[in-house]
Amino acid sequence: MRHLLGLKDFARTDYDDLLGVARQMREVLERPVKKVPTLQGVTVVNLFFESSTRTRLSFELAEKRLSADTVSFTAAGSSVSKGETLRDTARNLEAMKVDVAVVRHSSPGVPHYLARCLNAQIVNAGDGANEHPTQGLLDLLTISDLFPERGDDLTGLNVSILGDVTHSRVARSNIYALTTMGANVTVCGPPTLLPRGIETLGVKVTHRLDEALDGCDVAMALRLQLERQGAGLFPTLREYHQRFGVKAEHLDRHPNLRILHPGPINRGVELASEVADHENAVILDQVTNGVAVRMAVLYTLRAGQGG
Ligand code: CP
Repeated sequence: MRHLLGLKDFARTDYDDLLGVARQMREVLERPVKKVPTLQGVTVVNLFFESSTRTRLSFELAEKRLSADTVSFTAAGSSVSKGETLRDTARNLEAMKVDVAVVRHSSPGVPHYLARCLNAQIVNAGDGANEHPTQGLLDLLTISDLFPERGDDLTGLNVSILGDVTHSRVARSNIYALTTMGANVTVCGPPTLLPRGIETLGVKVTHRLDEALDGCDVAMALRLQLERQGAGLFPTLREYHQRFGVKAEHLDRHPNLRILHPGPINRGVELASEVADHENAVILDQVTNGVAVRMAVLYTLRAGQGG
């Protein structure tokens, strides 16, 4: 693996290998000194052209835990705000001889473009509505941990992905990961927020939340991507919550249902606040796993290059 651009072409063995390394990294994170010299001498730049809390901080932490030299770039406060192009920004990074670039951008395909024009290894930290591969991996680890008796085989597990699938890179990466690992995936939302032809990815489609939650083991609520939506995709946030939000009554009816959300949460929209804070919600476990998974990705990428 030279770059991590997406999960579309990952095989079961790729997931098994990465989850195995992530669990070893989690052990490192449990030690009193949470640091290993694995990436000493490696320079990583975090290129965030779009806002982020979880992904940016967990990549930065992962890099520091692996002893890499890191620099972080956010578009605000950089020469992008003076009109510098992506290509020129990339060429300047190349001149500084970075080894790995972690890239988030609002346009799909930017990490793929940088992989073509830079010598550095590229990690996609979210490109528009295309993919968010490290989120897919940390969600897979979180779900696998909920069912340890399965040993990472999710065959027959019922997972429902709820909400704004059309604008969600998290949904796409999760669909690739979960279906490859054998889960039955259902997507549920208003017709305006489910992409036409999504069934071709091997998922079931419903527009009824009750149907999506019936027999469901894990529900993953997606953030409404208001910044990427046009107007008029649903009447009001209140009505959206009434029809598609997970509420306490759903957990009363399905007491074993586990809840994931990639964050940031719109409380009272995708999830009622009491559901977000409920013991069945593993949202902060997802965040914890994010550091270990990103360590595993960086370690694996560098190991493939001989260290
Ligand atoms: N889940 C996720 O990508 O969160 P951030 O946008 O805060 O990185």
